[in-house]
Amino acid sequence: MRFHTILIASLFALLGGTSAHAETIELRASSMVDVEKGIVIDDPVVTIVDGVITSVRSGEAASSEPADTVIDLGEKTILPGLIDMHVHLTSDSDLHGYRRLAISDERATITGVVNAKTTLMAGFTTVRNVGAGSFSDVALRDAIAEGDIPGPRMFVSGPPIGITGGHCSDNNLLPPEYEAVGEGVADGPWAARFKVRQNRKFGVDLIKTCSTGGVLSKGTKVGAPQYTVEELKALTEEAHSHGLKVASHAHGSEGIINALKAGVDTIEHASFIDDEGIELARKNGAYLSMDIYVTEFILGVGEEAGILPESLEKERKVGQIQRDNFRKAHEAGVKMVFGTDAGVYPHGDNARQLSRMVTFGMTPSDALRAATINAAEALGATGQIGVLKAGAAADIIAVTGNPLADISLLENVDFVMKSGTVYMSN
Ligand code: ARG
Repeated sequence: MRFHTILIASLFALLGGTSAHAETIELRASSMVDVEKGIVIDDPVVTIVDGVITSVRSGEAASSEPADTVIDLGEKTILPGLIDMHVHLTSDSDLHGYRRLAISDERATITGVVNAKTTLMAGFTTVRNVGAGSFSDVALRDAIAEGDIPGPRMFVSGPPIGITGGHCSDNNLLPPEYEAVGEGVADGPWAARFKVRQNRKFGVDLIKTCSTGGVLSKGTKVGAPQYTVEELKALTEEAHSHGLKVASHAHGSEGIINALKAGVDTIEHASFIDDEGIELARKNGAYLSMDIYVTEFILGVGEEAGILPESLEKERKVGQIQRDNFRKAHEAGVKMVFGTDAGVYPHGDNARQLSRMVTFGMTPSDALRAATINAAEALGATGQIGVLKAGAAADIIAVTGNPLADISLLENVDFVMKSGTVYMSN
């Protein structure tokens, strides 16, 4: 531990301080990235009261009140904890294809406990988990929020909602005699509404659906639409009426447009987005979450991990086009969030995508904004997370060096605080 802590709090308690006393922390470092402005600020002093930032100052000005705890990170650069908008914490990257059939939802939940910790330690203080069986993601979110296990704050979807034989939820791996039907399968507008209502009843924060086929699902076509606009509209209207946002998996251009016409909030993957889709996304203020790193894993070691040959074939057609369209959509001014599909590849490697976002057209500040303020906005949590400002949760990470000069520094985080609790400090 390089920082020193002065635990006046325990002294205070010994001297008969009351439990009503607010716990204050003063955090210092040599630099801070202001993600909104895209600049580095010298000598930040962050004051935290009961897990929430109450002030951020620059320079050596002494605080008016002494803090219970002082954390001095010395030469490090602090920035807001990162947000990954597309993860599957209950999935492991070495269990693809038929191997996954042997994993029960209960076992997957325990996998999620391990991956939640790994993700937090990699500097991701918030994640959006878009698809899990048996509401295992709801259980994981609550166990983390109640302090039972370490992990990022989670926004969860529960079982993804999709058509029979589609990419979401349904499992096309087994022959008919097994009669396997995915938890989130719903055909028709009213069936889709019912699933939304059921997911809400069991505690989800958002709805995940699929408006095209996928790479990793058996027998689906990435270019083929899934759900009609009528079904997608019913699902989205129902979700919005309960205050839930909708994330739609979509690779093909037609399914992307269908989902945007229905008013979904984020498009996941967006691989074959065309000019019409780009225009519609801009007009609607929808966000794209384009997972442009995962292709390296799938084509690199996917076969060993159990990924089906047909999926490898699909990935060969998707990977490069998705990267080119990432550049195009960003240049056209579409709002972008950082989403990786971690779980398909190893949890904890999430930040590797940041440097790819820079390679494919973003500035380091743009990439950081996608993983902080843009993500917070897309979650409906502007000002609460993704920013170091008074009123925001004290979700703070630190690296050695300037991430605006070298974004890959974020692959090695030295310090992680979530809601004022320190989880890691090297
Ligand atoms: N879960 C996604 C799917 O199966 C992964 C797509 C990965 N490929 C990519 N280039 N982003 O469709």
